[in-house]
Amino acid sequence: MKYRVLGQTGLKVSVIGVGTWQFGGEWGRQYRQEEADAILNRAKELGINLIDTAECYGDHLSESLIGESIRGNRQDWILATKFGHHFHGNFDRTDVYSPADVVKQLESSLRTLKTDYIDLYQFHSGPDASFDQMELWETLNKQVEAGKIRHLGISIGSNENIHQTSQASKVNAKAIQVVYNRLDRKPEKEVFPSCIEQNLGVLARVPLASGLLSGKYKPGATFAADDVRSRRDRAQLDQQMKEVEAIGRDEVPAGTDMAAWALAWCLKHPAVTCVIPGCKDVAQVEANAAAVDLVEKGHPHE
Ligand SMILES: NC(=O)c1ccc[n+]([C@@H]2O[C@H](COP(=O)([O-])OP(=O)(O)OC[C@H]3O[C@@H](n4cnc5c(N)ncnc54)[C@H](OP(=O)(O)O)[C@@H]3O)[C@@H](O)[C@H]2O)c1
Repeated sequence: MKYRVLGQTGLKVSVIGVGTWQFGGEWGRQYRQEEADAILNRAKELGINLIDTAECYGDHLSESLIGESIRGNRQDWILATKFGHHFHGNFDRTDVYSPADVVKQLESSLRTLKTDYIDLYQFHSGPDASFDQMELWETLNKQVEAGKIRHLGISIGSNENIHQTSQASKVNAKAIQVVYNRLDRKPEKEVFPSCIEQNLGVLARVPLASGLLSGKYKPGATFAADDVRSRRDRAQLDQQMKEVEAIGRDEVPAGTDMAAWALAWCLKHPAVTCVIPGCKDVAQVEANAAAVDLVEKGHPHE
C-alpha cells in the first residue's frame, strides 16, 4: 500500500480506502456480518486503513457492521463518517442539519461504530443554506474540543460546489470529499485549486463511476430494482457506458485491469489524497488495492 497525508489533518491515509455505502443495502444486496468482516479484514491485510461510511447507509446499518467488525482493532483504522440525514427506508431520507440534531446523530454514530471518537466527521452533501449556519460549525467545533471528533470534513453534493469548498478553512474543515473520476472531471476547474490553496485533504468518491469504469457493463446493461443504479437516467447510463468503451480502447494499456487503472487515474491529480471505491466483496478489495502498483511516486501529499 501507499500512504498520503490528508491535508492539515496530518492523518496518513492509504491511497485506496474502502467506501461502504453498499453495506446499507441500496446496491442490490444485503450484507451479513461475516461478509463485512471478510471485506474489512482483507482490506486491513492489504494495508488499507481508511473506511468511509455515513449515518444514512441504512439507518446507521453500515456503521453498525463496521463497528462490530473493527472493535478489536479500532486504533488501526481511520474512520470517516457523515451527518445530515435521517434514513427512513431505502432511497428515502430527510435532511436534518439543526445543531442539536447533529449532536444526536454524532452520538448515534459513536455508539454504532463502537468508538469514542470519529477521525473525520463530514457534512453530508447538504444545501448551502444548511452549511451556512454558523451555530452548526460552532457546535461541531465544541465536539472537536471534547475529543469526540478528530477532524471535520465536507462531502460536497455537486462536484462544482465552490461555495462550501472555499469556506472549509473558515469552519475548521480540513478535507473535502467529492465525486471525481475519468468520466467526471468538473472538480479540476475550481474545487481542486481551492483545496490546494487551503491545503485540504481530498477524498475522491465514486472513483469507478458507480462501477462503470470497471469496463464490465456494456450499453444496454440493466441493474436490479433494489440497486441504486436502476434509478439513474437510462440514456445517460448508456452514454457513459459508450464513453467507457472508448476509454478502454484508447487509454487503458493492454493487459491492465480497467478498475485499477481508473483508481490510479484519480490519484494522479495533485489535489487528490485518496480514492474510496465501494467494494462489494473480497475480490473487489483485492483488485482495488492492486491499483497502488499503477500509482507513481512524487505526489505532493506523500
Ligand atoms: N454524498 C456522499 O458523500 C457520497 C455519495 C456517494 C458515495 N459516497 C462514498 O463513496 C464510496 C464510493 O462510491 P460508490 O460506491 O457510489 O461508487 P464507486 O466506488 O464508483 O463504485 C462502486 C461499485 O463498483 C463496483 N466495483 C468496485 N470495485 C470493482 C472492481 N475492482 N471491479 C469491478 N467492479 C468493481 C461494485 O459494484 P458492482 O460489482 O455491482 O458493479 C461497487 O459497488 C461510497 O461507498 C461511499 O462511501 C459518498
